[in-house]
Amino acid sequence: MASNSRGRGPASSRLRNRGSAKVAWLAFVVAAVAVLVLAVLYASVLEHRREGQLVTAPRKPVGEYESDNAKWGENFPREYASYKLMSDDETATKYGGAHPRDYLEETPDLVILFAGYGFAKEFRQARGHTYTIEDVTQTKRVGDKTGAATCWTCKSPDVPRLMAEMGPEAFYASKFGELEKEITHPIGCLDCHEANTMKLHISRPALREAFERQGRDIDDVSHQEMRTLVCAQCHVEYYFKGKGKYLTFPWDKGMAVENMEDYYQEYDFADWTHAISKARMIKMQHPDYEIYMTGVHAFQNVACADCHMPYRTEGGAKFTDHHLQSPLLNIANSCAVCHRWSEQEVHTRVQGIQDKVREGRDRAEDAVSKAHFDIAACMQIGADDAALKHVRQLVTQSQIRWDYVAANNGMGFHSPQECMRILMASVDLAQQARIECAKILAKNGFTGEVQYPDYSDKDTAQALIKRFIAGDPPDLLGATRTAAAR
Ligand code: HEC
Ligand code: HEC
Ligand code: HEC
Ligand code: HEC
Repeated sequence: MASNSRGRGPASSRLRNRGSAKVAWLAFVVAAVAVLVLAVLYASVLEHRREGQLVTAPRKPVGEYESDNAKWGENFPREYASYKLMSDDETATKYGGAHPRDYLEETPDLVILFAGYGFAKEFRQARGHTYTIEDVTQTKRVGDKTGAATCWTCKSPDVPRLMAEMGPEAFYASKFGELEKEITHPIGCLDCHEANTMKLHISRPALREAFERQGRDIDDVSHQEMRTLVCAQCHVEYYFKGKGKYLTFPWDKGMAVENMEDYYQEYDFADWTHAISKARMIKMQHPDYEIYMTGVHAFQNVACADCHMPYRTEGGAKFTDHHLQSPLLNIANSCAVCHRWSEQEVHTRVQGIQDKVREGRDRAEDAVSKAHFDIAACMQIGADDAALKHVRQLVTQSQIRWDYVAANNGMGFHSPQECMRILMASVDLAQQARIECAKILAKNGFTGEVQYPDYSDKDTAQALIKRFIAGDPPDLLGATRTAAAR
């Protein structure tokens, strides 16, 4: 055989070699599969053992509505210790972190965009959950104790007890100051967990009701979905419906910004009248869940908790990290579990995405701010409400879109394409408004340049807004006013 084969030359020896190579490959594949199967088995055994360790029955059971996080903490010291790390409010990433960044100082355009509304007075980056009571009672926006108690809904584990006692309707219809004595604990265990069983649960009615109106049963979702839905109780767009200020999620027509816009139009709902353009405006809150749902991670079933509450190991025990924060401050435990990228690569990738969204935001902020001033210029030349109806609608539509992206946390990371799509629409609508305004001004004999006032820093912008509110705005037509328009 050997000589024959030699006689037949290199071609056949290659063939024969191929034959033995085939056997070698087969052996290799069989071995590889066996190793893989063993590894998977081992990992799942390990996983089960770990999961067994994860949920432990409490040694000292707590009451059904126990809101004191420290009491729960006696049973679960690791989770509680990591929870308490949220008191660090000095961390910072380029666009996030827990420090109370002053958004108005960073982006004075916001003062213009929110003119006449609380967010133009004070608007800071969110801190960790342990600060909710302090922040809601101290913000200048809720300074008035006669405001709605509905604001409390997303701030404390005292809320489920009060709602059980009073009923949600009476809770929402109360005044903020009336409930202040009862609500003392910052967001904590009861907000996400059922007492003692430690099952994840939905503790707030608004999310449950929004699901019901969509014909979905929230008790029928997977465990993995619950790891997102506990967050969706609060990290969503919402409004206070009607006189009773009933907390409602505007999802009946869908969760895209256009669906919410349709929804609000149907209810003829507005949050405030803009101090510069007199357009009726809607403030978006923080549609984190809605935007996340359009992204690749939601599509791949990666939950909020996978990135913001990754597993940690301490002294051989695995547990869920309850220090909710920017995952960029904890890349090794969050992203790196799935992505084999270096920390530097993760940073570069995330910031690259965020820088692009920020650029889109900047363009929208500039265009929408100028549109408000263009409408004010039309008012100064004498255009009446009927003539301005359409341009006001356009500016409202463009600002809702910008705000849907801007108010959402994470600077677009959760769904970059959706954010850019919406920002493009925002810029387009704002520029349409500006073109219409130019036509209105021209019809009234003005063909010069609108004189945009200085709003390049927070103080200047706030002083400017005060003049509009006092009915003493600067002359926006200025020196270039034509003779006809004078
Ligand atoms: C794939 C991982 C991932 C998932 C899933 C995820 N996030 Fe994020 N989230 C991030 C990243 C990255 C940032 C940007 C952090 C930064 O800029 O420092 C972020 C930012 C945030 C922030 C602002 C934090 C800060 O310090 O600025 C909040 C709040 C937030 N996410 C909530 C959510 C919610 C709620 C969900 C689920 C509906 C969710 N995230 C799903 C990765 C994720
Ligand atoms: C914002 C929601 C949220 C809050 C608030 C919260 N948890 Fe959790 N907790 C989770 C999630 C999500 C998991 C993971 C559950 C899972 O996947 O089964 C978890 C898991 C746990 C577990 C199971 C073991 C483990 O570590 O995975 C314990 C015990 C626990 N939490 C205790 C607490 C305690 C004590 C507090 C209050 C100090 C608290 N949790 C507050 C969301 C929360
Ligand atoms: C009961 C309402 C509520 C629930 C439930 C909730 N949050 Fe929050 N979250 C808030 C509020 C309110 C703030 C702002 C706190 C402040 O600034 O005082 C916040 C702030 C945050 C921050 C900013 C902290 C930082 O360091 O930047 C992150 C991240 C966050 N939440 C993620 C989540 C995730 C993920 C979940 C679900 C596992 C969740 N939250 C569940 C209400 C909630
Ligand atoms: C539980 C697993 C998991 C975790 C944790 C996770 N990712 Fe992902 N990530 C995925 C999957 C799956 C995809 C989709 C890949 C695909 O379909 O090709 C993805 C996609 C991405 C993409 C590409 C997005 C796009 O549109 O192409 C980026 C960027 C990314 N992840 C960043 C992160 C960052 C940053 C973190 C941590 C904050 C993180 N991921 C955490 C599983 C994860």
